[in-house]
Amino acid sequence: MIPGLRVVTTNPGKWAEFSSVLQSLGVECSWIRENVLEIQSDDLGEIAYHAGLDAYRRWGGGVMVEDAGLYIDALNGFPGPYSSYIYRTIGVGGVLRLLAGVDERNASFRSAICYVDSYGVAAVFTGEVEGYIAAEPRGSGGFGFDPIFIPREGDGRTFAEMTLLEKNVYSHRVKALKKLIAHLGDRSLARDI
Ligand code: IMP
Repeated sequence: MIPGLRVVTTNPGKWAEFSSVLQSLGVECSWIRENVLEIQSDDLGEIAYHAGLDAYRRWGGGVMVEDAGLYIDALNGFPGPYSSYIYRTIGVGGVLRLLAGVDERNASFRSAICYVDSYGVAAVFTGEVEGYIAAEPRGSGGFGFDPIFIPREGDGRTFAEMTLLEKNVYSHRVKALKKLIAHLGDRSLARDI
């Protein structure tokens, strides 16, 4: 059996996405609505790793944290790991202004989840979804940059125009989470043998 997971985030949107997938897979989960250490780095995996160790020090094993970001090709990957700061400062409108007149609108969302087990062993899992930046914001669902992100494999709607379950089909977050679930499943099988 996969052990219960404690998801550490202050972002209700992330919690909604994580908990919907975990509950649908029958994995118990609970929400620790607290901030964790966020180091400065260009590497989401490294940021998530240190956040995970901080969460483990404070709440013990079975914790997971996530660091995510929006990477825009025409801006050489900006805002990337600085996405939450850019969201809070210039916001969706500011990012669209940076892209005014730019035809090349490829972008991706990336997620790095760090899970720390009861022995304090940390493992990082990543996920990515490719897409485009919309010409203007559309939709009222989701959070952050969802109103301007159109997944490449979707039907042209932004993430904010989708239901949570529809976003989950494409999302960077769910791809990383599924890798974590597979890892926990393998480990629990190994224990059962
Ligand atoms: P952090 O992972 O808390 O550092 O925040 C990453 C930032 O990237 C968020 O504040 C959002 O602005 C943006 N972001 C990350 N994932 C998503 C997503 O699934 N939808 C929309 N914005 C996202």
